[in-house]
Amino acid sequence: MDIKAYLSGKRVLVDSYLKSYFDRPLSPPVLSDAVKYSLFAGGKRIRPILALASYEACGGDPKDIIPQAAALELIHTYSLIHDDLPAMDNDDLRRGKPTSHKVFGEAIAILAGDALLTEAFYMMTIVNRRFSGAGIRPSVLLKAVREVAFSAGASGMVGGQVQDILSENAEPDSDMLEFIHLHKTASFIAASVKMGPILAGSGKKILKALTIYGENTGLVFQIIDDILDIEGTTGALGKTTGSDDRKKKMTYPSLFGLEGARQRAEYLILKAENAIAAFSSEADPLRGIAQYLLYRRT
Ligand code: IPE
Ligand code: IPE
Ligand code: MG
Ligand code: MG
Ligand code: MG
Repeated sequence: MDIKAYLSGKRVLVDSYLKSYFDRPLSPPVLSDAVKYSLFAGGKRIRPILALASYEACGGDPKDIIPQAAALELIHTYSLIHDDLPAMDNDDLRRGKPTSHKVFGEAIAILAGDALLTEAFYMMTIVNRRFSGAGIRPSVLLKAVREVAFSAGASGMVGGQVQDILSENAEPDSDMLEFIHLHKTASFIAASVKMGPILAGSGKKILKALTIYGENTGLVFQIIDDILDIEGTTGALGKTTGSDDRKKKMTYPSLFGLEGARQRAEYLILKAENAIAAFSSEADPLRGIAQYLLYRRT
């Protein structure tokens, strides 16, 4: 299948929903400006797309869960704004533009992140005929909200980000590295994939298979991010390369070398692909995304 065309088609779907959602101005206007500045600066939209592809693999029509999928991008964008702050990674460039705090100052950047994180849960509960033809049962929606909250919070992304900061300049430790990557990145990516079976009301076996797919592709996502921080270009990535080395971050290449990191990523992608081997051709987009994540340059 043409995975590039699939990704761009789904990106348009997510972006047009986000555009119409944030059409109404927020007050004070600088809040609108800061939210839209980061949200519409670009971005691959890979988490919403994973949710849509996974829902499709479970027999659903992606158009039915657009608000729930798009909400994931709000949480992701908040995490990037806060990740770039001087107190965290102290980065100046994101999505090809100066970081939020460089443009709006730290206070507004922090608050724009807060707004995006909170608004995401409001967006997740939107179930209307236009965007949810099949309708989503309240009990199913509750499960989805719990999953997203758990994976983005203290037991997931935030816990991982804390350990990432604590581990700057620390002795190499492969268990700690695994903890950081699983929590700061894989947890939320796995939750994005799990939106599919949860919202489709799939059974335990399907949920388990997609959880394994999500955790492994999530780990790979961060390993490749670490590799690209060394091998990639600032132009293609839209963020300044060499950031991890400057901050003495605990990363896969710093522990295992570039080749070791790449081998690990290849092994984990095989595990992800094996987990969904029994799925029909409806899971082809997920198969294509797994390969794309391994070879991406942006
Ligand atoms: C970067 O995420 C942060 C990580 C979790 C590694 P993406 O690579 O998905 O960033 P965008 O959304 O495309 O800008
Ligand atoms: C960030 O990891 C993970 C998040 C939860 C935001 P990085 O710090 O490596 O992400 P980039 O490289 O700045 O995008
Ligand atoms: Mg970071
Ligand atoms: Mg960073
Ligand atoms: Mg990085």
